[in-house]
Amino acid sequence: MRRHPVIQMLVIGAIASAIGIALSFWIHWFPVDAAKQDKPIDTLYHVLMIVSIPIFVLVTTVILYSAWAFRMRPGQEHEDGPPIHGNTRLEVVWTAIPAILLVSLCSYAYGVLTDIEQTHKDELVVKVHAIQFAWSFSYPQSGGRTVNSDQLYLPKDRPVRFDIDTQDVIHDFWVPAFRVKIDTVPGIVTRLRVTPTRLGTYPIVCAELCGLGHSVMRSTAHVMTPAAFSAWLTREQAPVSAGGAGGGGAAPTQAQLIALGRQTFTGDGGCGACHTLADAGTTGTTGPDLRLLRGQTQAQIRQDIVDPNARITPGYPANVMPQTFAQTLTTQQLDGLVSYLATVSK
Ligand code: CUA
Repeated sequence: MRRHPVIQMLVIGAIASAIGIALSFWIHWFPVDAAKQDKPIDTLYHVLMIVSIPIFVLVTTVILYSAWAFRMRPGQEHEDGPPIHGNTRLEVVWTAIPAILLVSLCSYAYGVLTDIEQTHKDELVVKVHAIQFAWSFSYPQSGGRTVNSDQLYLPKDRPVRFDIDTQDVIHDFWVPAFRVKIDTVPGIVTRLRVTPTRLGTYPIVCAELCGLGHSVMRSTAHVMTPAAFSAWLTREQAPVSAGGAGGGGAAPTQAQLIALGRQTFTGDGGCGACHTLADAGTTGTTGPDLRLLRGQTQAQIRQDIVDPNARITPGYPANVMPQTFAQTLTTQQLDGLVSYLATVSK
């Protein structure tokens, strides 16, 4: 006994949907949950899967089943199908169902978005700077000072607001373990909110193709206990304030300049993301290993930083290193960087 085609399609569709939905749960698609924002986002994903898989399966089943069951057989070459034109009830149904689905899913997704973007009074503000091809982070402190770092340090269970800007092109700040991500857009500050809930170390990546060094534009987020975080902040505050921001005080000593230079190398300047330098512990390979600075004068090193195209190391393309360091670094940071590089490459 041959069953009705619609029944057959429904049976095939139900089995295929069940397998699809089971797979969407059975395979764990996500990195660890490290933030409060993760759960609602993962649930949203699963709900979208549960709704989309049957629709995808339904459309595919109808197409494949019809192509096979209703194919033209020998002798039917000149036959025409039944003269059907329009079916109001069917058209109302296939317009209404997608409309209802879309409106409900959009409302649900909007609810999740509002939930994960909730503001908090005691949020920690971290400024994120993007530059081809590195991330740097600064923590505004009282008295107008900031602590700068090329890695992200966050206390567990405290809401964080990231204020994100870029010095050049569009990048995208993404910590997969926090799920959320956002573009960096030239000229504006974009914001992202996260409450880390799990101690550990998580990769930060750039999720927008931003140039030759895009794939190396990475950093690390460390979620620490609040005590460890305060200790880190206090430790980082101490050295720079002496030579760095000191307004109107005495000129920094050579040792202070070198310390500031080293910090600029791994922090604000972002040099370490692209250059290998043993002293700074960096291993970037987008640009040349800085051992090649040995024997160069301070003037030459300064030119290499502010006007990198003036002397290109053979084997490396021009226009990869930013040409804006004269504007983006303070005079003292630049002096520090030159002193530091001249000293460590001796
Ligand atoms: Cu920055 Cu990709």
